[in-house]
Amino acid sequence: MSVIPAIDTRLGRERPAPREGSQATTILALKIGGSLFSDKSVENSLDMSAIADYARMVSRLFQGHCGRLVFITGGGALGHGALRGNDGADPFGCIPLTKALADVRWSWTEALRRQGVRALPLQLGAMSVLDDDGSFSVRGDVLTKVLDSGALPVLSGDSVLDMDGRLHGISSDRVPEFLVRALDADLRVVSLTDVPGILLDGPNGKNVLAHVDPAFPERAYSALWAKSPWDSTGALKTKLDALLACASAGAECFIMRGSAQGTDYSHLFSPFGDWPDGVSCTRISSPSATA
Ligand SMILES: Nc1ncnc2c1ncn2[C@@H]1O[C@H](COP(=O)(O)OP(=O)(O)O)[C@@H](O)[C@H]1O
Ligand SMILES: [Mg+2]
Repeated sequence: MSVIPAIDTRLGRERPAPREGSQATTILALKIGGSLFSDKSVENSLDMSAIADYARMVSRLFQGHCGRLVFITGGGALGHGALRGNDGADPFGCIPLTKALADVRWSWTEALRRQGVRALPLQLGAMSVLDDDGSFSVRGDVLTKVLDSGALPVLSGDSVLDMDGRLHGISSDRVPEFLVRALDADLRVVSLTDVPGILLDGPNGKNVLAHVDPAFPERAYSALWAKSPWDSTGALKTKLDALLACASAGAECFIMRGSAQGTDYSHLFSPFGDWPDGVSCTRISSPSATA
């Protein structure tokens, strides 16, 4: 019989104060890519046992770091499917994405609650609009309040309104761009996906690009190969665009392979220099921000 841990019912737990000498508390935004819990080539595919395994991993990270962790789910087949075949002339054509991603967030919320995590799904389109240049204009301080209460925000992509009243389908890869603006804290972004980082030697390659300076992204871009036909958001290109924007704004970002079983992720809150040897990843950060 499995024991379901109780959700901590005490309220008012505060985010830990910044460590002495550090500028601010670092918030870790952990994105689990849809490829890790869904087969995007199969309609509505959602691997509930993978979600349960990752929820266990996230709950371990959350313990001891509550108020400092933001969870982001990819859209998987549901998200990509909801963006296909929409009427481009209709300013609200991508509204099916709102429901699809709410469903995905709720699946994670239930799985996280089963692990005893006080998780709260939040809708990106209710906390932001898109400026004319496509960047996020952030509304409200709800996210900070949720973190300060000791809960785990569960975010995803969404349909987000622009200044002209048109909805845009926003990939979960872009959520860290929202976080950079919404949070008054140092931000680390870890994007778990089905590759160990940006590969320099093509599909099934072994040669991972170790670091990208946002001032010199050319090598990273030239390594990307064409996206899969069922991908609606640009795969690694969208991740790279978004993480470069975040790194330019001072965040420290990583792309690495996700694995729900047997992988210890406890180092993700530690300074990069203290990470164990042999962690394969692409780190995207400005040298000035992380020197
Ligand atoms: N240079 C590259 N290195 C690694 N992966 C790449 C590269 N170029 C394109 N890709 C593709 O990006 C995919 C990861 O992005 P995506 O499928 O969107 O993952 P997620 O579901 O995590 O968002 C990889 O499976 C790979 O096919
Ligand atoms: Mg993707």
